[in-house]
Amino acid sequence: MTVVLEVRDLQKTFGAVVAAKDINVSVKEHEIVGIIGANGAGKTTFVNMVTGYLKPTSGHINFAGKNIMGLPPREITKLGISRSFQVPQVFASESVFENLLMAYAIAEETGLGVLSPLYNEERAARVDDHLTSYQISEYRNATASTLPQGIRKLLDIAMAAVSKPSILMLDEPTSGISVEEKFNLMDIIMEALRKEKTTILFIEHDMEIVERYVSRVLAFYQGEIICDAPPDEALMDAGVREFVIGEEYHRTRTEALNGQGDPDNA
Ligand SMILES: Nc1ncnc2c1ncn2[C@@H]1O[C@H](COP(=O)(O)OP(=O)(O)O)[C@@H](O)[C@H]1O
Ligand SMILES: [Mg+2]
Repeated sequence: MTVVLEVRDLQKTFGAVVAAKDINVSVKEHEIVGIIGANGAGKTTFVNMVTGYLKPTSGHINFAGKNIMGLPPREITKLGISRSFQVPQVFASESVFENLLMAYAIAEETGLGVLSPLYNEERAARVDDHLTSYQISEYRNATASTLPQGIRKLLDIAMAAVSKPSILMLDEPTSGISVEEKFNLMDIIMEALRKEKTTILFIEHDMEIVERYVSRVLAFYQGEIICDAPPDEALMDAGVREFVIGEEYHRTRTEALNGQGDPDNA
């Protein structure tokens, strides 16, 4: 399969802090990549550099064969890499429908408040299809600020996806979501994106989510990728166990896999 994203020798320093060091990774089309690592490991810095929100200190980033280093976020989005933030970036006082209408207007480059009106029937139809894909049609007319957290997350990710990016990067899509809701949320996101054949990289702390949804894990530790492997392998890796997931999780997981664990206690 074709490599869509190629990152070479990427570095980022903030004064004495090395937030990214020797990052080398190639992502192929349609991969689902889970980015894991403790707080401060450099996960968001990596996503920020690829999406243009942070300028790398040095290195190379190629997307679909084109050098995108130093391009502003808007240019990178236009080329086909979109992202969501850990905290949903929705227009709080607007309805779900209006939020998506604006997202489409921006993606379609008609701009806001300029000559062409936000609303037209074709665009509204696209919004309604999108609402259906993300299973939030029942919230169509609700004001974003009143939405439950899970729905707000879905709206935010739906907005990031309106441009039909070839790569979508999600910063902790399940953070702040209850354990019971997480799988449902991820099922909806993955189903919606599967239809578009989107390549996905997402930052995740819940290893059950990682195991269920990703084909590949990138484990970060102190600005470096310490493991790049399929989830089965990555979650057994000594460095990942020590620096990312902790031995306790590893023990309960091993017991569960061996059928020894108390499921109520896992
Ligand atoms: N804008 C910034 N200015 C200074 N230091 C930063 C900035 N952004 C991140 N860092 C530092 O870089 C390191 C990696 O941070 P980050 O990428 O946010 O980690 P993660 O997302 O894995 O929790 C941390 O030590 C953090 O304090
Ligand atoms: Mg982060």
